Amino acid sequence: MLQLVDIRKSYRLGPDEVQVLNGIHLDVEAGDLLSIMGPSGSGKSTLMNILGLLSRQTGGSYLVNGRDASTMDDRELSTFRNASIGFVFQSFNLLGHLTALDNAALPLVYRGLDRRERRRRAGDILEKVGMADRLDHKPNQLSGGQKQRVAIARALAGAPAVVLADEPTGALDSHTAEDVMRLLAHLNREEGITVVIITHDPEVSRQCRRRTRIRDGLLVADDDGAPGTAGP
Ligand SMILES: Nc1ncnc2c1ncn2[C@@H]1O[C@H](COP(=O)(O)OP(=O)(O)OP(=O)(O)O)[C@@H](O)[C@H]1O
Ligand SMILES: [Mg+2]
Repeated sequence: MLQLVDIRKSYRLGPDEVQVLNGIHLDVEAGDLLSIMGPSGSGKSTLMNILGLLSRQTGGSYLVNGRDASTMDDRELSTFRNASIGFVFQSFNLLGHLTALDNAALPLVYRGLDRRERRRRAGDILEKVGMADRLDHKPNQLSGGQKQRVAIARALAGAPAVVLADEPTGALDSHTAEDVMRLLAHLNREEGITVVIITHDPEVSRQCRRRTRIRDGLLVADDDGAPGTAGP
C-alpha cells in the first residue's frame, strides 16, 4: 500500500548538501506491524515524514496505493493524509488548553462533522484506549502514558488505514511503554490497522512482526540480518 522505491533525501545547508537517505526500498503492506530502528540522526524521522506525506523525497519514487505521490498537489496530499494516516509523535503534541476529549476529536474538524458527533467518536476511541475516565482532563492533568494514549486516540480518531508512530514510547518508563506497545499491537491485530513504529527500544521492536534498521541511509531487514529483504 505504501511503496518506497530508491528513496533519497538530502538537505541543503548553505553550500553543503547533507545526504540522509541513500536509496530506501520499503513496501509497507496492509496489516503490517513494522518497526524501524537506527541511531540518532540516521534519518528515521526524515523517512517517517516522507511516508506520512509531510515532506517530499529528493530522489526515487513513492507510490501510495499505486499512485505516484509526486503527481499529487498539496491539496490532494492533505486530503489523503487526513483520511488515511494517523500520526503519533514522541512529544505527544497535544494542545494544552484542550481536554483529552477535544484533543482526540481534533482531526475530525476537517471531516465536516458537527461538534457533538466529533466528541462522540473521540469518546468511543478514548474508551478503547482505556481513557474513558479522563475525558475532561487537560494534558497537564495526565501522566505521560495517559498523554500518549490520548495522542494515539487522536491518531485513530479519523479511522486511518495507517498509523505512523515516531518513538511512541520514547518518553515513557518501561512499564508504561509496554502498555502503549500492547495497545498498538492490539489495534494492528484486531482492527487491521497498519502500524509503523520508529523506536530506539529493542523491546518495542521485538514485538513487531517486521523489523527493519536504517544503516548508512539504507534500510535493512533486522529479522535475520540478511540485507535487502525489507524492500521489493
Ligand atoms: N531541515 C534540515 N536541514 C538540514 N539537515 C537536517 C534537517 N532535518 C534533519 N536534518 C539532518 O538529517 C539527519 C536525520 O535527521 P532525522 O531527524 O531524520 O534523524 P532521526 O533518525 O529521526 O534521529 P533521532 O533518533 O535523534 O530522532 C540528521 O543528521 C539531521 O541533522
Ligand atoms: Mg527522530
